Amino acid sequence: MHILAIESSCDETSAAVISNGKIRSNVVSTQLIHQQYGGVVPELASRAHQQHILPVVREALEQSNLAKNDLNAIAFTRGPGLLGSLLVGVSFAKAMALALKIPLIEVNHMQAHVLAHFIDEPRPSFPFLCLTVSGGHTQIVKVTAPLEMEIIGETLDDAVGEAFDKGAKILGLDYPGGPLVDKLAATGNPHAFEFPIPEIPGLDFSFSGIKTAFLYFIQKQSSANPSFIQERIHDLCASLQFTLTETLLRKLKKAARQTGIKEIAIAGGVSANSGLRDAVLEAGEKLGWNTYIPKFEYCTDNAAMIAMAAAFKYEKGEFSDQKVSPLARMEFGG
Ligand code: KG4
Ligand code: ZN
Repeated sequence: MHILAIESSCDETSAAVISNGKIRSNVVSTQLIHQQYGGVVPELASRAHQQHILPVVREALEQSNLAKNDLNAIAFTRGPGLLGSLLVGVSFAKAMALALKIPLIEVNHMQAHVLAHFIDEPRPSFPFLCLTVSGGHTQIVKVTAPLEMEIIGETLDDAVGEAFDKGAKILGLDYPGGPLVDKLAATGNPHAFEFPIPEIPGLDFSFSGIKTAFLYFIQKQSSANPSFIQERIHDLCASLQFTLTETLLRKLKKAARQTGIKEIAIAGGVSANSGLRDAVLEAGEKLGWNTYIPKFEYCTDNAAMIAMAAAFKYEKGEFSDQKVSPLARMEFGG
């Protein structure tokens, strides 16, 4: 059983091939054009997907040593994501499935981030909790079977990746700022500056207050000392990173306590953050969790995770018809 999977929800054009549950290839092309605008420009993203999709798919097939006629299904990200970007992947997948006369499989992007944990060993056992943290989402998901997931906590405003990126922008760093904050934080003091950790009831999150507190603090300090950012950049990044990851960790611990689940995973772009990875590992050791931290290549957007999710759907016979259209907002199972 061979499936070609396509991911085009935001600013990565990616294609992967999976055979009997094993990833054979995973090609990711990141759009660099957005850097100069300080954020993803949707119109430019969909144009870049159109330019990249054919070479990326060709490369993924070539690396897998398979021909298109060997494929049994074509999978694609249906949503959530940018509508114009999704449309490129969805149309491409539909056309290819139609031409090859093989079934189509739609995949939920956030579900795929969680299922990235099934690409390699060790795999979490059910039920497990997954903290899924990306540029568009912040969720705690309770996973009872490969395709059975329930969101038990989520952000009420910004996503944590967005908070990293906006914080970085305030510091004058390039987009996407998350990885740069991580790098600069490595030699900074996480307790140099203190920002408020939001007190939101239940398992939900909020990040807009941290962003505003950070902005006002920087504005105040910079007006007294114009080279404040430059002088304290490492401490600023480390303190921002600590505040954001501590906010995540408190809720993850609460979710583990409330559900009694000790199988704990993290996923999504922000799961590449070294502060978060270390904090989850440390909490796991103290609290007796089995922790699952994804490989870096499976944290940020990639088609291997779409292929993995598609393999589970193929087994269950869950296919889509040619009328399927992208959905910018998409609940699990929706
Ligand atoms: O999952 P992803 O690639 O795309 C979405 O589905 O949104 O996540 C992208 C987000 C961006 O906000 C980026 O800044 C953040 O993940 N990110 C990081 C790191 N690597 C990526 N944030 C903090 N530290 C990192 N090392
Ligand atoms: Zn993502």
